[in-house]
Amino acid sequence: MDELIREIRKRKQDRNALILAHNYQRDEVQAVADHVGDSFYLSKIAAQAECDTIVFAGVRFMAETAKILSPAKTVLLPEPDAGCPLADTVAAADVAALKRLHPGAPVVCYINSSAAVKALSDICCTSANTVKVVASLPDAKVIFVPDANLGAYVAGRLPGKELVLWKGACATHAKITPRDILAAREKHPAAKILVHPECAPAVVKMADFAGSTADIIRYAAASPAPVLLIGTEAGVLSAIKASRPDRQVLLLHPGLVCPDMKKTRLESVRDALLHDRHQVSVDAAVADKARQAITRMLGVV
Ligand code: 13P
Repeated sequence: MDELIREIRKRKQDRNALILAHNYQRDEVQAVADHVGDSFYLSKIAAQAECDTIVFAGVRFMAETAKILSPAKTVLLPEPDAGCPLADTVAAADVAALKRLHPGAPVVCYINSSAAVKALSDICCTSANTVKVVASLPDAKVIFVPDANLGAYVAGRLPGKELVLWKGACATHAKITPRDILAAREKHPAAKILVHPECAPAVVKMADFAGSTADIIRYAAASPAPVLLIGTEAGVLSAIKASRPDRQVLLLHPGLVCPDMKKTRLESVRDALLHDRHQVSVDAAVADKARQAITRMLGVV
């Protein structure tokens, strides 16, 4: 393992590369990264990064976003099959059909979407800024794709808006049910429950806090609660435990493991750097349009 880490560090320096890792990555992958964070933070880093190569330890839409924001850089996705089933629930043709059905309504796309979907959208958002992004639009009616749970979360906070929702959902977050929350509260009455807004609306309503992975980690670090129950992917646990090693941090459901996020291993990061693989490319015309939606988001928040 030490040898592998040395190899990664050496190759990274030779190539003037940066490793960006999402909060859901394996602990050892997070440990070799230059920056670890949520989708919003990583997209800002990708836009500002001064390097020749970005190795994106995450899933395809994240690496695509980095490439769109830094077209002159080489962007590598160590595991080319690391995708996002939620992002795959909506295609560009679906967005075009929604626009025809609701003429004039702006489209907000969650960053968990393809470049082609972003290209047809007016503005992008992440779980850290969805409410602010939707609130920034003057229109009452807004098309929101693809996550219906996140859309419902925003709609609940912006009663003046009419959100037209798509039917996408994250299979990992969908595992948590209100019954899990009730059982957890009974077993740990002093616990705080922190969930991601990709969870079902009933789950979010019963939790003490909902936010992006970085918001959850921040909230946890500041909370005096002796027990924290977490409703998002297991990758966030080590950062939460590191902030207060003396307390109990538990998952709300044992199945909170995203198979795509866990595809990336140290070996895949090393091989990506060694063999310059797997390079992410985005059609230039699509990238130009998608960039407008992403940079508009970065201007709002
Ligand atoms: P974050 O916005 O917290 O990075 O969440 C991204 C994601 O894919 C959640 O499932």
